[in-house]
Amino acid sequence: MSGKAGERAMYRILELLRQTDAFVSGEEIGRQLSVSRAAVWKGIRKLRQEGYEIEAVTNRGYRLISPETMYNRQELETGMKTRYMGHPIYFYAETDSTNNRIRQLAVEGAAEGTLAVAEVQTMGRGRRGKQWSSPVGSGAWFSLLLRPDIPPAEASVLTLLGGLAVCRALEDISGMQPVIKWPNDILLNGKKLVGILTEMDCEMSQVHFVVLGIGINVNTKAFPPELEEVATSLFLESGKTFSRKLVVQKTMERLEEYYDIFLAAGGFAPLLDEYRRRCVTLGREVTVLEEKSFLATALDVTPEGELLVRRSDTGEEMVIYSGEVSIRGGV
Ligand code: BTN
Repeated sequence: MSGKAGERAMYRILELLRQTDAFVSGEEIGRQLSVSRAAVWKGIRKLRQEGYEIEAVTNRGYRLISPETMYNRQELETGMKTRYMGHPIYFYAETDSTNNRIRQLAVEGAAEGTLAVAEVQTMGRGRRGKQWSSPVGSGAWFSLLLRPDIPPAEASVLTLLGGLAVCRALEDISGMQPVIKWPNDILLNGKKLVGILTEMDCEMSQVHFVVLGIGINVNTKAFPPELEEVATSLFLESGKTFSRKLVVQKTMERLEEYYDIFLAAGGFAPLLDEYRRRCVTLGREVTVLEEKSFLATALDVTPEGELLVRRSDTGEEMVIYSGEVSIRGGV
């Protein structure tokens, strides 16, 4: 069987095994897929090489054990309920940054909703030129391509929309209640759980595409000393392990839901109240990290996604467009 045909057979075997907790005999698999017993055996061997745990018992056949722990394109596609977010999926065992992959795919004409997921990023990027630690096996590192038909000035709310969707998805999955630090950091018990890096390609009046890069600390058991005080994971806050596949799929579902609302309304207004409820920055004293940092009270978030603050020194109200604020007594 050729490489491609072999791969197709392998995934059809996987589908078949996935449908039941019981053993399925090699003969039965061969009959259902119209392939030889030898091809079935080859397929099983390939699946094992991919990391699937398959039990084999003489006279009973094969049984798939815990597919939930698998994290690859095939697994991510299975059970993805969205119409366009997360279609198609590119999965990288290792890449420099999924934002780079999506940027490249976008330039080549990829469709809105295209998703790049990596097991490991060797040069994961954070905001303000920082690195984003993206080790193997513990986190969900992925980037999504959006092609909104809007002027660049309106694109910054997509950053807020991304934060809102991820926050909601993680609440759905974990039952815990993460909060948003404006514009789109997600915190749990005061520590950073998710970082989002939004990058845009545009001309004066038109956005070409937006890359929404999302890093979620899912099952991280320990952080390097310099991050220990400020970073956390779903595992560290709950003692439970979560399926990264589910994390990515739920995030795609919520992103599609909120992005559809944004497109239908032509703006962020219908999502603003939920954002305000989840935004822990509001009402707090913050340090606005501009060229000359200053203290202020965060008053509100505007429909354009800016943060309205009152300066502590002059009492002047002003809007902060982007960039960083740090909450006093927090991250
Ligand atoms: C931040 O500084 O808070 C933003 C971190 C964003 C990290 C994600 S991981 C997936 C995507 N690829 C990257 O290189 N960065 C983003």
